[in-house]
Amino acid sequence: MSLWGDEELAQSPVVANRTMNRARGLTGVNSYARELGLDPAGWLAERAGPQAWLDLCSGEGLALLAAAARLPQAVLTGVDLVGPVVPRPVPADVELVTASLADWAPGRRYDLITCVHGLHYLGDKLALLARAADWLTADGLLLAQFDPTALRGPAGTSLARPALAALRAAGFAYQPRRHLLTLRGRRNVSLPFTYLGADPGAGPNYTGQPAVASVYRPTRRQVD
Ligand SMILES: C[S@@+](CC[C@H](N)C(=O)[O-])C[C@H]1O[C@@H](n2cnc3c(N)ncnc32)[C@H](O)[C@@H]1O
Repeated sequence: MSLWGDEELAQSPVVANRTMNRARGLTGVNSYARELGLDPAGWLAERAGPQAWLDLCSGEGLALLAAAARLPQAVLTGVDLVGPVVPRPVPADVELVTASLADWAPGRRYDLITCVHGLHYLGDKLALLARAADWLTADGLLLAQFDPTALRGPAGTSLARPALAALRAAGFAYQPRRHLLTLRGRRNVSLPFTYLGADPGAGPNYTGQPAVASVYRPTRRQVD
């Protein structure tokens, strides 16, 4: 197994795959509401405004654009390596950032952070989850689709069980049926794994699309 760094991973056929579904809307058949089991705009609307939603790996940003019409004062931020391919008008309260989440960080906290079919293409998935936990407001909500079988040890063995155990110990909950990690409230998260690199040759995951495996060395449990 050869391990790739973030820059070469971004150029790999798996990450630069033009056939991936980047156009999910907010609600409906091909949507965030369907993937997450929750309508993000409906959830945000029940909170005192102005609400803030950060969408990681936002693709075309269609869910955020639809939310802008329902949440007139909200701060709506999307981050994607590629950014929108189809030009569309973007309202002033929507920011679509083109950047790699390997090193991007926001300048504020968010009530809602989502990642819909995005972690599959990240190298250091655990680092992004830990960083995103710190980007939440005190009672914010993080929802991220996550395939634990994509975490491997240096010899290729699955780290799914220890990784899920560490995430649960850090406060995350996992719904296997939806492949969904959730976290309520901002946390300082430190996970006992050292990232070694990515394997874009891991093959298809549960979605049927080729995905990136992430290789870690388990480290001694750190005391917070
Ligand atoms: C399957 S698409 C999902 C897009 C969107 N969430 C949706 O459901 O319509 C995965 C997205 O992850 C983005 N992506 C992959 N690696 C990334 C990285 N390192 N940083 C930011 N975005 C990344 C891709 O450009 C792609 O738009």
